Amino acid sequence: MLPLVFAATLIAPAVGAAAEPRRVATRGDGIIRSPINAIPGPAPKLRIRQNEVQVENQRDGTRYGVEVEVGTPPQKVTLILDTGSPDTWVNPSCETANVPADCAAFPHFDYTQSSSLNETGVEDILVYGIGNATIQYVYETVTIGSATIENQIIGVATESHSIPLGILGVSPPVQGTNEYPYVLDTMAEQGLINSRAFSLDLRGVDNPNGAIIFGGIDTGKYIGELAKLPMLSPEESPGGADRYYVTMTGVGVTLPDGEVTQSEEINVAVFLDSGSTLSHLPTPIYQAFAEAFGDAQFDPTTGYYFVPCDVTELAGSVDFYFGSKAIRVPLNDFIWQVEGYCMLGILPNDDEPILGDTFLRAAYVVFDQDNRNIHIAQAANCDTNLVAIGSGADAVPSSTGQCTELPTPTGSSGGRQTLDVTATRAPTNTFTGTAPTGVAIGPGPKVSGTANVSPTATGNSAAGRGVEVGLGAVVLFGVVNVLASML
Ligand SMILES: *[C@@H]1O[C@H](CO)[C@@H](O)[C@H](O)[C@H]1NC(C)=O
Ligand SMILES: *[C@@H]1O[C@H](CO)[C@@H](O)[C@H](O)[C@H]1NC(C)=O
Repeated sequence: MLPLVFAATLIAPAVGAAAEPRRVATRGDGIIRSPINAIPGPAPKLRIRQNEVQVENQRDGTRYGVEVEVGTPPQKVTLILDTGSPDTWVNPSCETANVPADCAAFPHFDYTQSSSLNETGVEDILVYGIGNATIQYVYETVTIGSATIENQIIGVATESHSIPLGILGVSPPVQGTNEYPYVLDTMAEQGLINSRAFSLDLRGVDNPNGAIIFGGIDTGKYIGELAKLPMLSPEESPGGADRYYVTMTGVGVTLPDGEVTQSEEINVAVFLDSGSTLSHLPTPIYQAFAEAFGDAQFDPTTGYYFVPCDVTELAGSVDFYFGSKAIRVPLNDFIWQVEGYCMLGILPNDDEPILGDTFLRAAYVVFDQDNRNIHIAQAANCDTNLVAIGSGADAVPSSTGQCTELPTPTGSSGGRQTLDVTATRAPTNTFTGTAPTGVAIGPGPKVSGTANVSPTATGNSAAGRGVEVGLGAVVLFGVVNVLASML
């Protein structure tokens, strides 16, 4: 079990309580805070290569988990927090997980012990960037922080591949329309939050106690103003998918001596995906970053660029620009450290560019699904001050972060150098060692091309999209036996 510090607070809004005087929104109203933790990978197998320092603490923040309670009486399970998919499900098959022992170390949900579970009889297959899960949809009670959601549709996996933990999905419907009410929808519908919005504070690799706050922001966790960026419509997004896409207008690198290099203005649609361990950016950007790290060695097998681990101790950052807002990711957070290896936190992707955990660790992000805006600021940690997100067009308060501004990089050579993200380059140094194996990375986004099944619509199987399972057995033996035969 992970040692989770649970400090959730919920003061339910007074909406609907007719006898009580109508309260104005006060601090804490409609806010659900839940800790979010970097889940370490399996026990480190340290292999020390030439020119590489040993990492004393394994800080391979490969996935970020939230502890939730499912069923009645409540059972604790840890789920991967995923802004790249909308569905929530439990019980991965550990035998076919990428690292079976890692998966088996987490508790599973025992459906036979829950009195609130209600079957839908509908099965679905969810396909992710890495892995897939066959689930049966059920209605269940789900508690996140101290907010209890009744009759939430979740999946109970009957089979899964390459996924070590269940998933708490908080993305918009990738296809554009809801198949059923997702967790964020139900929270708003049941009055637990004022609108479908949450903020995410993943935190740096050395600072494990991040949080997700449904219905609120914490002004003690960022610097300066939140920049409001419109979420791109599916028509504007690569692949026509509805995701948390925004326009990235530049990239750059701040060198340890403070010198800033920055690209020309670019216009790249990227989506923010907490379920992706690494960032996946267009090839010229990936190559430009690699070139900025003179020692990086390219591994043709995996596409990773290996760097000496002592680079993580240097000052400097990898920078991402959204209009006038710069998010500077410290090297320690951008470089992915796993099994004694250090790799740049980026891979190439020209089709659906992603800013994953190697970006999100340095950003404070508010996801406002109702207004289709993303608000973003440089993450920091100086206080705790929860402010509720209301409803309507200005739901997200324009509160200034309380943390102190980072020093503006000054640049030793007095000017901004250009990072060329237009050229294509061949890697100069090739990695000749053995890449790490058995790495448990995040699932990546839900694949947008798959037709989903709606557990609520009638005639699913008649439409040829869904698989209705276990109906006869439900009548004869009830829920438990149906599930038992599948699990
Ligand atoms: C399950 O669903 C049925 C039909 O909607 C309902 O009558 C029943 O109360 C539900 N049971 C639970 C435990 O929610
Ligand atoms: C799920 O993953 C397994 C293992 O990679 C694969 O054999 C299977 O075809 C996948 N199923 C779907 C529907 O993608």
